[in-house]
Amino acid sequence: MTIHSLDYTLGEAERIGAAIGAVLRPGDIIALSGDLGAGKTTLARAMLKARGLAGEAPSPTFAIVQPYAPPEIDMPIAHVDLYRIEDVGELIELGLDDYLYDGALLIEWPERLGDGGWPGMLDLVISGSGDARVLTASVPPAWEARWPL
Ligand SMILES: Nc1ncnc2c1ncn2[C@@H]1O[C@H](COP(=O)(O)OP(=O)(O)O)[C@@H](O)[C@H]1O
Ligand SMILES: [Mg+2]
Repeated sequence: MTIHSLDYTLGEAERIGAAIGAVLRPGDIIALSGDLGAGKTTLARAMLKARGLAGEAPSPTFAIVQPYAPPEIDMPIAHVDLYRIEDVGELIELGLDDYLYDGALLIEWPERLGDGGWPGMLDLVISGSGDARVLTASVPPAWEARWPL
């Protein structure tokens, strides 16, 4: 596991998200942590755009799981926001594992998974506010060779 940290502005968020999105593969899980308004959805949107999604992806805060599939995007990706999840039973109903056979998961508020995360997740934490955000990535072995930043 290697830790990478970088500062970025809103203007750079698109490029950063796109770089990560471009190397995404089926079976991948990206955890996006940080306070409300940290910039999690902004990065997820840039990843989805890099995979071909036209228009701005909605925040999945209310849908909880927003799945995308070809042809609107070039591989299946489910954009997930677990903010409203209150207990582990609700998580089971979401069936998130099923997306991993041929797709990837982008998960905001992964803290709600409790101990039930997945090994090999790419953990992205956003901190800071205003125009100065910091992205801290814990890059697991499965991502080491393709980490783009
Ligand atoms: N690097 C950044 N610098 C400045 N503002 C940013 C940055 N990234 C995101 N923002 C802004 O922060 C606000 C919240 O972003 P959002 O992605 O919805 O946060 P979250 O999903 O973490 O709640 C948006 O107005 C967005 O434009
Ligand atoms: Mg969000």
